[in-house]
Amino acid sequence: MPKRISRRRCLEGIKPYVPGKPVEELERELGITNAVKLASNENALGPSPLAVEALRKALSEVNYYPDANCYYLRQALAEKLNLDPEQFIFANGSDESLKLIAETYINPGEEGVIADPTFSEYEFVLRIMDGIPRKVPMRPDFSHDLEAMLAAVNERTRLVFLCSPNNPTGTIIKRRELERFLDRLPAGVLVVIDEAYYEYVSEPDYFDSLNYLQQYPVITLRTFSKIYGLAGLRLGYAVAAKEIIADINRVCEPFNVNHLAQKAALAALKDEAYLQKSRQMIAEGREQLAAGFSAQGLSFVPTQANFFFVDLGHDSQEVFQELLQRGVIIRTGDIFGYPSYARITIGTKAENERLLCELEAVLKELQS
Ligand SMILES: Cc1ncc(COP(=O)(O)O)c(C=O)c1O
Repeated sequence: MPKRISRRRCLEGIKPYVPGKPVEELERELGITNAVKLASNENALGPSPLAVEALRKALSEVNYYPDANCYYLRQALAEKLNLDPEQFIFANGSDESLKLIAETYINPGEEGVIADPTFSEYEFVLRIMDGIPRKVPMRPDFSHDLEAMLAAVNERTRLVFLCSPNNPTGTIIKRRELERFLDRLPAGVLVVIDEAYYEYVSEPDYFDSLNYLQQYPVITLRTFSKIYGLAGLRLGYAVAAKEIIADINRVCEPFNVNHLAQKAALAALKDEAYLQKSRQMIAEGREQLAAGFSAQGLSFVPTQANFFFVDLGHDSQEVFQELLQRGVIIRTGDIFGYPSYARITIGTKAENERLLCELEAVLKELQS
């Protein structure tokens, strides 16, 4: 083995991301074919049929580099959202958008304020830039404590990450609360609003962050991984004032969004029937799972997203392992600091039924 080369010191605090177990992997391990993955908040309907058709056509064009400017997608989104095409930056999923933002704004020792629990990538992108995450506990009802987040902002703070609906809790920030927060935020701090699940929100008190982009230092993140059903292709985008986007463009690789992703996203964007069906499935699934969890005496956080944060009343790693043996994959809460909780994606009616049935059996087994 060659002599070990020391890694950057700021990497010491970083644990590699543990992704949800892929269905194929579990099926291979158990020798089964009907595993169900309710672990990564993907769209259980499969991809949009229009996206699949666009992909077929685009396959014969992959000998060329992709369009570095994402021209057609940029135009389509600018028109749909009534924004300037220069207000967008496209990335290899919102994960990359987050990394680009940290690379643009975080000098070593500078800080980002994040909620706890929330999506782990915020801490990750801060740490790889040798930045410092300032974690602010959520309120007892798992909503963002914006007062406390504001109090955590100091002269070293460059970024505040807000996730709404929040992963893993499914809770949202209400419009008035966000506006009060933005009004009082000191100058020089950029607010990242991650809206990976915003299309699922049914609460009327929700905000439209795009309305704030000219007035406040806000950057909105959206993705084609969730309701648009294209997680496997990796495409997210960030929207902000042109000047902010121009700064982030300095650290962006030229061909970070592949050709197939661009073509599929453009088609999915126009597939209203698919979007409607996806929303409907989640609305019905919320009721189905909420009723099922309640019937089993399990408490859960009311959700505005396509997943639930449920208290299993047991070590969720144990429940997870038992469910795996039965072909069902969920996400354990220990990674978010809540070892008795699990994050469970809402699937199709049949998948939800299977989850409820297997969960009941596993919990009974563990109790006896
Ligand atoms: C809040 C949040 N933001 C971003 C992402 C990542 O999105 P993408 O697949 O676009 O990288 C996820 C994925 O689970 C998420 O939950």
